[in-house]
Amino acid sequence: MDIRVFRQDDFDDVIELWERCDLLFRENDPELDIERVLRQSADLFLVAEIQGEIIGSVMGGYDGHRGAAYYLCVDRDVRGRGIANALMSRLEKKLIARGCAQMNITLRDTEVVAQGVYEKLGYDQTEHICITKRLIEDQEY
Ligand code: ACO
Repeated sequence: MDIRVFRQDDFDDVIELWERCDLLFRENDPELDIERVLRQSADLFLVAEIQGEIIGSVMGGYDGHRGAAYYLCVDRDVRGRGIANALMSRLEKKLIARGCAQMNITLRDTEVVAQGVYEKLGYDQTEHICITKRLIEDQEY
């Protein structure tokens, strides 16, 4: 298993992976999400591959204050082998190298497995309230 930075020719494979992992939500256009992150922090968008096939991803971010992770996923048939752990560890190392002191991650309340996984990876659930405001409406996916 290799972890590397997303490449332009991974576009379709990554969106298919997200589809298989049920990470496509109607309010987010995945192609626009990828284009936006490539303009902002391309080197924090990581994929995991086995024999040339993309089986995992995490889309990292850093706003100069906090780090973030989105679209963490691993194909069902290779879950439980530490691949999410490896993706997050690589992302955390990159963020630390940039001076990022803390990560904040937002999860849907339905993402129960991911909540358990992040907890295992050392993330604590907080009492903070997450607030959000949509600034650009994407076309419904
Ligand atoms: N419940 C609790 N803990 C678990 C579970 C589980 N179902 N599965 C794995 N773990 C633990 C592992 O034991 C491991 O802990 P350890 O290091 O102490 O042994 C740790 O979590 C990491 O496990 P990995 O094997 O690295 O995780 P995996 O490769 O299976 O991927 C993932 C986990 C990405 C959450 C996968 O289940 C998935 O793709 N789910 C669907 C997509 C999803 O919901 N993604 C979250 C989106 S939200 C966001 O990214 C901000």
